[in-house]
Formats: sequence, structure tokens, C-alpha cells
Amino acid sequence: MKTFNFDNMVISLKQFTKTVEKSIPVKEIIKQIEFNNINKKKLPQLKIGNHIASLPIVQGGMGVGISLSSLASAVANEGGVGVIAANGIGLLDNDYYKDGDAASVRAFRKEIQIARKKTKGIIGVNIMVAIDNFKKMLDVAIEEAVDVVFMGAGLPIKNIPVKKMREKNIAIVPIVSSARATNLIFKMWSKIYNDIPDGVVLEGPLAGGHLGYEKDQLDKKEYQLNHLVKEIKITLDGYKKEFKRELALIAGGGVYTGRDIYETLNSGADAVQMATRFVATDECDADIRFKEAYVNCKKSDIGLIKSPVGMVGRAIRNDFIRKSEEGIKHNFNCSWKCLSTCKANEANYCISVALNNARKGQIDKGFVFAGSSAYRIKEIVSVKALVSELKKGYLKAKNVEVNKSLNQLLSKIQSLYDSYQDRLKIEYRCKKAYEKALVSFNDVAIEEVRKQYKKAKANVINTQLLLEEKLLLTWKIALS
Ligand SMILES: Cc1cc2nc3c(=O)[nH]c(=O)nc-3n(C[C@H](O)[C@H](O)[C@H](O)COP(=O)(O)O)c2cc1C
Repeated sequence: MKTFNFDNMVISLKQFTKTVEKSIPVKEIIKQIEFNNINKKKLPQLKIGNHIASLPIVQGGMGVGISLSSLASAVANEGGVGVIAANGIGLLDNDYYKDGDAASVRAFRKEIQIARKKTKGIIGVNIMVAIDNFKKMLDVAIEEAVDVVFMGAGLPIKNIPVKKMREKNIAIVPIVSSARATNLIFKMWSKIYNDIPDGVVLEGPLAGGHLGYEKDQLDKKEYQLNHLVKEIKITLDGYKKEFKRELALIAGGGVYTGRDIYETLNSGADAVQMATRFVATDECDADIRFKEAYVNCKKSDIGLIKSPVGMVGRAIRNDFIRKSEEGIKHNFNCSWKCLSTCKANEANYCISVALNNARKGQIDKGFVFAGSSAYRIKEIVSVKALVSELKKGYLKAKNVEVNKSLNQLLSKIQSLYDSYQDRLKIEYRCKKAYEKALVSFNDVAIEEVRKQYKKAKANVINTQLLLEEKLLLTWKIALS
């Protein structure tokens, strides 16, 4: 097969321009291919509400102090969406055990303000709907006018101050695990608020932390990320049409390389959410020993836990987890019940305390939440270096795929074009023969030549239609 070359492609299309220009916008196609050639070094942007991120990467919120102002601002500075997690943030404040609510509000506000000082990029926050102080944390996010609020671990349907959030230009994005949940949230919102969220984050079954799936669902085909993306895209497309709005579909869980980003976007997502890879960065807010747990873990260390809050979670399994499962109690004091669904009395440990110990580097007094691909991490790098690696990987994957498709199309177009030329010649010869036959006044001969001429004409039209079809496809690929 010929090696694809943009110039050859353009010449080919230009040759064909005169013949089919009337029926298809060949000039537009050429312009687009040339434009893409210039712009092929760029990743698509992410539009989220009224905000535009130059990088289609959302850094997943990581609770209990893993993603705070340092990581979020570093990601935002690279063009992505940096996210501060509100969950368990009060544990960073000395007065947490005196007044958990006030400590959480104070620590959350402080981190947002620090992040704002460090970046002009897009800063989001991640708040758990199920948490008892959800409303208070949401108020802080509104007062501080963050750019995006991601709401997970529950369905954000009732008591959302949508109007107030719109006045502050805050994008609102629920975190979901299915098309059903997406539809329910959007349907209820349109009824209650006459408005809809600005998109969704789909957290797939390979993600780290608490998961929105039952254990037996995780390996099933219908719960795999690309499958769920397609389903949710269909749901969102309906609401896009109805509300004449752009909606962002952000998908995450197991996205590790630039190629993974390309494939996730190709399956229908507008952006990816990534968390695990951002843990192993200089800027991640956790203790170095937390990050080293990622570098040192093996594939077989990563597994599931049944969290005291009643959900399945993915973590690096250690003795702390094993002992708890055997029934050994790790003493804790639940002075401030942060989650109403938490069965603190029956639990062998407090999840917030365990995760906070790990954050501080005391891994044996807790454990490390991690995504399924954490074992692939070999070193701790800067956010800048990580983003640069991801961009390169994305562009390489894209160019390989686009060139492959365009190459195949180009050779098809060229062979069709050759046969089109041949058929034009045959048509011309048949026309001449028909004209000659007409003056012979031999009805049988006229009819025979007329038939051939008709067939030759039909052949020309059919080839032209096929060429048009291939050219339109070329256009679509060039636009991708
Ligand atoms: C250490 C850790 C903590 C997390 N904490 C939260 C959280 O508090 N809230 C949440 O919505 N998701 C949480 N997640 C999920 C991430 O935001 C993200 O969606 C997911 O991990 C993406 O998959 P990946 O880690 O394979 O990139 C956490 C993930 C990790 C690894």
C-alpha cells in the first residue's frame, strides 16, 4: 500500500474537483485536510459549562487530602481541570475532633484560595453528595466561585442551588456509573430546575477509591468503560438536542497512556478523568510514602475492599485490610459522624482515619486507594512531564490511526478514479458508436448500441457515486 502523504491526498482531490464539485464540497475537504495538517499537533479542547480547558483531561478528585491545591493548580497550569476533593478535608485541620463541620469548611476554603493564587487555570472541586455536610461544602464552593463542581457518591438531585451556581458561572457535573443514573438526574433536573447539568463524569469499573458498582458487575462486558461511554453518549445526545446545549462526557477509570486517552475520546467521550497517574507526581498532596506505595506495588497487590460506608472500593491491599477482614478492630473515635450511611458501630476501622493515616505516610495504620493500573507506575514525575508524555502518546496514536484510515481511503479513491476515467472513455466510444448507428437507419443495430451506451453511462454515474461516498468519508476522518 502507498504511504499516506497529505500532499498526494490534496493533489488527488484537486484532480477530482472539476468533475464532482457540483455535488460535493471537495474544496472544503481539501481545506480541512490542510487545516488539520497544520493543527495535528493539538489535542481537542474540553468545554465544560462556560469554561474551556485546552487539555481534555480532568484530574479526578481524591479525597482525604490526596488532591488539594498543589496538585489541582499544577494540573490547571498545564491546561487541564484541577480538582480539590472536599471529602475528609477537615482531617487536615487541628480542630477536626472538636468541630468536624467547622474544620472541614475552613480547610476546604483555604485550599481553594491557595489554588486560585497558584493558577489562572480551571479549578474544580469534588464533593460527595452522601456526606452529611454536603450542603455546607457546596456553599463554600459557591462563595469561592470555583469553576466546576463535581458531585459524586449519590445522585445530586434535590436541594441543589442551581440558580446561585449559574450566577457565579459554576459548571455542575454529576459523577455517574451508568446511563440510567444519567437519565434520572437529567430528567429530574429538567422537572425541578428547568435546567440540566453541564455534563457528567463517568467513573468506570477500573477506577480507584469507592466504586459505583457491585463486585459481580465489575468484569461484565456491559460495564466496561467504552461500552458505558456509548450508552451515556446516546442519553446526553437526547438532552443536547432538547436543551440546545453542549454537554461534556468525561470518562475515567483505568485510563493510563496517551493512547488510552485517544481511544476513550474515539469511543465518544469529550475528555478523560485520570487520578491514579496524578498520585505519582511531585505535586500530589500526599506524603512521599503514599506515592511510593504506587511505585512499589505489584499487579496482584491491587484488589477490592468492602468499605465501612457500604461500597466496594479499589486499593492496594495490605495487612491492615486483611486483619480488618479477619475481624480485628482498629480502635477509632467517631466523634463526628461524617456519613449517615456509615455503619460506624459495626465497622472494624474508620475509613476517613485509615485514609488520613495513609495520606500522612503511615501506610500500616491504614491503606492506599488506587486505580487498577497503579502497578504500571515506575517513577514519580512532575505534572508537566506527565502531561507532556500523555500529549505525545495521544498524538502518536491519533496520527497512526488517521494515517491508516486515510491511506486506505486514498488507495481506494485512486483506483476508483482510474476506473472512472476508463469508464468515461468507454462512454465516449459508445456515444460515438450510437451517433453513427443513428444514421444507419438499422433499427436492430441502433437498439443494440443504445443499450451499450446506456450501460456505459450508468457505469460512469455509479463510479462517481462511489467516489463521492469515499470522499465524504475522507472528509469526516480529516475532521476528526
Ligand atoms: C487515592 C484515590 C482517591 C479517590 N478519592 C475519590 C473521591 O474522594 N471522590 C471521588 O469521586 N472519586 C475518588 N477517586 C476516584 C477518582 O477521582 C477517579 O475517578 C478514578 O480513580 C479514575 O481512575 P484512575 O485512577 O484509573 O485514573 C479516588 C481515586 C483514588 C486513586
